[in-house]
Amino acid sequence: MFSAKCKSKARLEGRTAIVTGSNTGIGYETARELLKRGARVILANRDLEKSQKAGEMLCAEVPACQLRLLRLDLASLKSVHTFAMEILATESNVHLLINNAGVFACPYTLTEDGNEMQFQTNHLGHFLLTLLLLPALKVSAPSRIINVSSKLHWFGKIDFDDMEMSKTYKPTKAYSRSKLCNMLFTKELIKRLQGTGVVAYTVDPGMVATEATRHLKGTAASMQKKMEFLKKSPVQGAQTTLHCALSEKLAVQKGMHYSECSSAAISCGAKRKEDAMKLWKLSEDLLLCQVGSAACVIRRNLFYPQIIQERMGLFRNGSCTSDAKLDGKTVVITGANSGIGFETARELAKRGNAANFRGYKSRKYYQAPEW
Ligand SMILES: NC(=O)c1ccc[n+]([C@@H]2O[C@H](COP(=O)([O-])OP(=O)(O)OC[C@H]3O[C@@H](n4cnc5c(N)ncnc54)[C@H](OP(=O)(O)O)[C@@H]3O)[C@@H](O)[C@H]2O)c1
Repeated sequence: MFSAKCKSKARLEGRTAIVTGSNTGIGYETARELLKRGARVILANRDLEKSQKAGEMLCAEVPACQLRLLRLDLASLKSVHTFAMEILATESNVHLLINNAGVFACPYTLTEDGNEMQFQTNHLGHFLLTLLLLPALKVSAPSRIINVSSKLHWFGKIDFDDMEMSKTYKPTKAYSRSKLCNMLFTKELIKRLQGTGVVAYTVDPGMVATEATRHLKGTAASMQKKMEFLKKSPVQGAQTTLHCALSEKLAVQKGMHYSECSSAAISCGAKRKEDAMKLWKLSEDLLLCQVGSAACVIRRNLFYPQIIQERMGLFRNGSCTSDAKLDGKTVVITGANSGIGFETARELAKRGNAANFRGYKSRKYYQAPEW
């Protein structure tokens, strides 16, 4: 079976990497190579016992192995949040975030947050993890985010009105959709990361003999067995991830999608900018609005990283460049007696007839002299 090999000789002393789903398969082999190159590696796995075993095997093989085990269950937004907060509180740097964990073609299940399992594990959990860890990645720049997608993203379709798929669920259809989400998320992420020194890539590892097919039954399972001889080993399957994590040439954003350690074509669906923005917005809305689930915790705390970013001066100070005038328009702003609301009102007043601005309850705040 042909498999390209990562040719980079880069060493990683002093660098910290997080690998999700690293107790087995492609993630384990990725973590092993990063450790061999001197990185400090955080194994982010949901089952601490399996993670412990993987850690022991890795340390038995790699001398002076610098390993940390931390629980991460991507099917629980609360767990993702706890993991990220622990990282932000205890790690001074994150140079590499490898979003590798994935579930393939499981039976229809909803997570504790009420999302379709493959959508949350493969996309939404990693989406939240990435956003929460951005302050650490930005402060550690040059840094990289690698999202492990799949060739099956070519078959992915997103019906934004049917994210739960409660009536339309097919295991492989939901998987392909989640892998298309990886592509669209990365597309939008690259756009938003411009100028930060953080780059992001998607990877297609090829067909790899791992535990990924564990949920398949009957004909599908026996077909997989018959195809085993065509599959790569997990070491081979990890090569493109390693290429994107290590290649010196990819330290600055160079394309997005890689397969066999080379830039690769993406599906038409993965090229749609509007869908990338729509998915981003939908993912944010899901994280902010899932009332009655653990996501409420996120809702309250999601602002922490933003506060950290602000304090570190990491936000690019983008300012609104529109010259639009608002003469004759009426504006209602809630909470405008101080802070962001006050500043918004001030700018809007400057663009129209300030006399039309009325403050209720605490009128004095609205009479700023320069208006
Ligand atoms: N194998 C292939 O042919 C192939 C092809 C294309 C893309 N991929 C992608 O490659 C990545 C790695 O897959 P693999 O082939 O190495 O599969 P694997 O051997 O099944 O490993 C998957 C890893 O993800 C973890 N995981 C699953 N659900 C999780 C959750 N809720 N929270 C945290 N971790 C979770 C698993 O942990 P547990 O052991 O606890 O379940 C395991 O560590 C996946 O994103 C997959 O979609 C694989």
